[in-house]
Amino acid sequence: MQTTAVINQKGGVGKTTTVMNLGAALGLLGRRVLLIDLDPQANLSAHLGVFDSAPGAPTSYQVLVDEVPLSESILPTAEENVFLVPSTRDLAGAELELVSAMGRETRLKEALAALEKTAKPAFDDILVDCPPSLGLLSLNALAAADRVLVPLQAEFFGLQGYARLMDIITLVQRRLNPRLVLGGIVACKVDRRARITNDVLDEVKKWAGESFFESMIRPNVKLSEATSHGRSVFRYAAASNGAEDYLALAREFVQRASGVVVPEAPAAWLKLVQDQKDNARATARAMKQAWREAVPVPDLEPEVAKSQSERELEAPAAASVRSRRATQQPVTAAAEKPAAAGTKAEPRPASKSAAKSAAKPTAAETAALQVAAAAVKPAATVKPADGTGASEATPRKSPTVIRSAARRVPRSAKPEDPQP
Ligand SMILES: Nc1ncnc2c1ncn2[C@@H]1O[C@H](COP(=O)(O)OP(=O)(O)O)[C@@H](O)[C@H]1O
Ligand SMILES: [Mg+2]
Repeated sequence: MQTTAVINQKGGVGKTTTVMNLGAALGLLGRRVLLIDLDPQANLSAHLGVFDSAPGAPTSYQVLVDEVPLSESILPTAEENVFLVPSTRDLAGAELELVSAMGRETRLKEALAALEKTAKPAFDDILVDCPPSLGLLSLNALAAADRVLVPLQAEFFGLQGYARLMDIITLVQRRLNPRLVLGGIVACKVDRRARITNDVLDEVKKWAGESFFESMIRPNVKLSEATSHGRSVFRYAAASNGAEDYLALAREFVQRASGVVVPEAPAAWLKLVQDQKDNARATARAMKQAWREAVPVPDLEPEVAKSQSERELEAPAAASVRSRRATQQPVTAAAEKPAAAGTKAEPRPASKSAAKSAAKPTAAETAALQVAAAAVKPAATVKPADGTGASEATPRKSPTVIRSAARRVPRSAKPEDPQP
């Protein structure tokens, strides 16, 4: 059982995000993980969504103040192999309530020692999420831990307070917990394109040397989105940069702590990636289907064919129909005027355009259209069974071929040709 205090007195540097996702990654690597929320803001507990399932369960407050056994406050989570000791806002009062208590800095240490004797099976890794201060709660975490992990934001202000944190760690090593070691510094939200980031990282590497983790966490929106869905980044977006980075950090973390080399792509992670891909495909299919049912989409295929060829042929034919109607079949006055009252009128065309479309083309024009359409239609209308596009057996004719076919037609078609 290895206990790690994840600490930095600065807020918003990625402590809770690291506890949650490093913990989830260790769980995917097959390790049994316990996360302890020691922050009165209870962000970790909220991110893991445990309150809905266990209202009123003992929390880290009861463990520290009322000395409730840690085992009674452990809750399962939806993350594989990950358990949680939640926190509540009450914990903010614990610092004051413990001021005059005996052994107030070592309450968590004693609780963990008792858990180590009783927990079956034992936990491999315990990660403690500390509040953004160096008060009694953080002191309890440092007194109970084997290692300290410091998430650091690679900004100029991220370095502020680092020296004070190192002083406190040294003091705890001397007075309360001689086995405590600096497990590592992990750079969070690292954008390597920013020059200031590289300057800060060079500076930190100079002091931290070996303890600086090679794995760094890039800024990734999936990390913050995942928290609002009450999930680790693995259960939210297993193939994201955030998931990759925390998996790499987990491998390095285990290797440093126990010398065990862990696989690059654990099976549990690969399964999550595949399941999420399948889910995304199924959702896309369902949405497409729902969209089709809601909005009937017309089949545009014949129109496409028309725009390429038939329109060219129809344009002169229609012009010829219009000119012939103007000279040979003028619209009669009876057709134009409404029927006299009381007399049964012939049904008249609804409008001028309807009257125009009633005019028939000549035999030559019809023949020209049919032959040219025959040259075009197979490519335009034959669809393969799967409906993906034109069949290979009937390749689409190029516009040049269609135009030359159309030019040949009027010469060979005679007006007296019988119509099919
Ligand atoms: N690598 C990252 N990329 C993008 N957002 C991040 C990253 N790490 C943390 N965050 C976001 O930054 C905010 C602060 O992170 P958090 O882990 O809560 O910090 P802390 O616990 O140190 O106060 C949260 O909204 C979190 O989602
Ligand atoms: Mg936090």
